[in-house]
Amino acid sequence: MKCILVLHLLFLLYNVDGLKVLVCFPLPVKSISILGQSVVRYLMDAGHEVTYITVYPLKNPPTKKLRQIDISSNTALVADAQILSLAYILDNKLENSSPRDIQIFSQNIARNTLSHENVTKLLEDQSEHFDVVIADLLETELYAGLAVVYKCPMIWIHSMGANWQVLKLIDVATNPAYDPNYLSSNINPLSFTQRVEELWTRMQWQFFKTFFTQPGERKIYETVFGPLLAKRGRMLPNYEDIIYNASLIFANEHDAALNRPSTPQNFKFIGGLHIEEPVKPLENDIQCLIDNSVHGVIYFSMGSFLKSNSMPTNLTKNILQMFGELKQTVIWKFEGNNLQGIPNNVHIVNWAPQQSILAHPNVKIFLTHGGLFSSIEAIHFGVPIIGIPVRFDQNTNVNKAVLNGYALKVALSYDLPKDLKAAINIMLNDDRYTKKAKELSSVYHDRLLKPGPSLVYWVEHVVRTRGALHLRSPALHIPLYQRLYLDLLAITLTIVSVLIFLISTLCRNKTGKLHYLKKID
Ligand SMILES: *[C@@H]1O[C@H](CO)[C@@H](O)[C@H](O)[C@H]1NC(C)=O
Ligand SMILES: *[C@@H]1O[C@H](CO)[C@@H](O)[C@H](O)[C@H]1NC(C)=O
Ligand SMILES: *[C@@H]1O[C@H](CO)[C@@H](O)[C@H](O)[C@H]1NC(C)=O
Repeated sequence: MKCILVLHLLFLLYNVDGLKVLVCFPLPVKSISILGQSVVRYLMDAGHEVTYITVYPLKNPPTKKLRQIDISSNTALVADAQILSLAYILDNKLENSSPRDIQIFSQNIARNTLSHENVTKLLEDQSEHFDVVIADLLETELYAGLAVVYKCPMIWIHSMGANWQVLKLIDVATNPAYDPNYLSSNINPLSFTQRVEELWTRMQWQFFKTFFTQPGERKIYETVFGPLLAKRGRMLPNYEDIIYNASLIFANEHDAALNRPSTPQNFKFIGGLHIEEPVKPLENDIQCLIDNSVHGVIYFSMGSFLKSNSMPTNLTKNILQMFGELKQTVIWKFEGNNLQGIPNNVHIVNWAPQQSILAHPNVKIFLTHGGLFSSIEAIHFGVPIIGIPVRFDQNTNVNKAVLNGYALKVALSYDLPKDLKAAINIMLNDDRYTKKAKELSSVYHDRLLKPGPSLVYWVEHVVRTRGALHLRSPALHIPLYQRLYLDLLAITLTIVSVLIFLISTLCRNKTGKLHYLKKID
């Protein structure tokens, strides 16, 4: 009996074994592709067959269960490399991208991806089928068309945290009074002007989306997917119907940090997915270096997005000199070998096994640009950070880290050496930051399932339950006017004005009558 039960359970558990999954990560952004690779890795480890549309194909694909669709030509669509040069940013006081720029950027990537020869070849093959589509979500919902082609559930994966643009696809947009735009440097609680600013940004975003981007996307959707469905003998559903039809959204965020808006039941946190566990052991020389640092180690990296060698030379020189005055060992990830006068306690590496370094208990401070992946790693390994945000969501991430008590923020400027030194001294002399980082780290690790198994579970759950309709928010189908009770307001106003009208007319007549009655008296 028990045996049968176990077999039955096994059958239930394994009846989604060997799913065919289409994973689409079309953005030419290296750090986001790391998330894509992790998704692919966990799905394959769980026995599923993955087709991976990617800008950065894996060099040695691990098994036969992976087919890669190479769209590396998308890299040609990223803006001028100079924009990412620190020197350029320092001298030009670069403004953050506007909502409009990012919408246009994402739409161009989507147009290019969906008409890419390698993707077209896949889509035109009518013998192909998939059980579920997982696509990266940034400012465009066009990839939902893929799930329409394969008549399967759609799952989004968002490389940032919960925010209104994403939440409104499966629930309702959260309130700008407490959910600032993801590129905003405003942080809760918002002041009056910040609230107005957030409302204004949101109105601009929505205006541009409704009147420019979305009509453009609908056209691309019809041009790309119309003929594909016609060949399969099916009608193309309305674009507006499919973009609000996702089964689930995964977000690259975690439960430990303060300051997240509430999220619906089909919104799942998988922050930390990209961290390989257990971490790879360090190479001997770095291991020895960190082991033998009596005063601890400071690790400095500006991420893969920004190259340290685009820093002005005088700035580099001054930073090196400042590091030289510290007792701590400094490991600086810096591309380029043209550095001179490197102090004894400073070690320059072209590439660093960041996760393995952060995992070492001797590492005391992490100097970072505050990219989302680095921010998550800091919490994962419980290392306090000094953030030097440059652009995109880095400001937001560093502000949140400061709010959460495990970070200090330093502005990128020619005064960086001086400001950085002050921040390092504060952090070395006050263990509150380290304590807070460790505390958040233990909250972060205290979860039912690690992000990898959680991702696999939810993907399988969506397929098993044919789109997880039971997780959908009823709010999705309630039009804005009903949610805001504008109809009730209209009815009330009508009744009140009719009443006022009637009463005033009556009163006029009555006063006439009263006069009359009085006269008779
Ligand atoms: C299409 O994929 C092949 C590998 O399968 C790749 O060599 C080629 O560069 C891709 N085409 C484009 C335009 O990116
Ligand atoms: C919406 O998603 C469900 C579940 O995946 C699917 O059955 C349905 O066909 C989808 N609707 C449209 C219009 O694509
Ligand atoms: C470094 O050089 C830039 C111009 O190249 C200059 O504006 C800046 O003041 C210099 N900074 C220092 C600290 O010398």
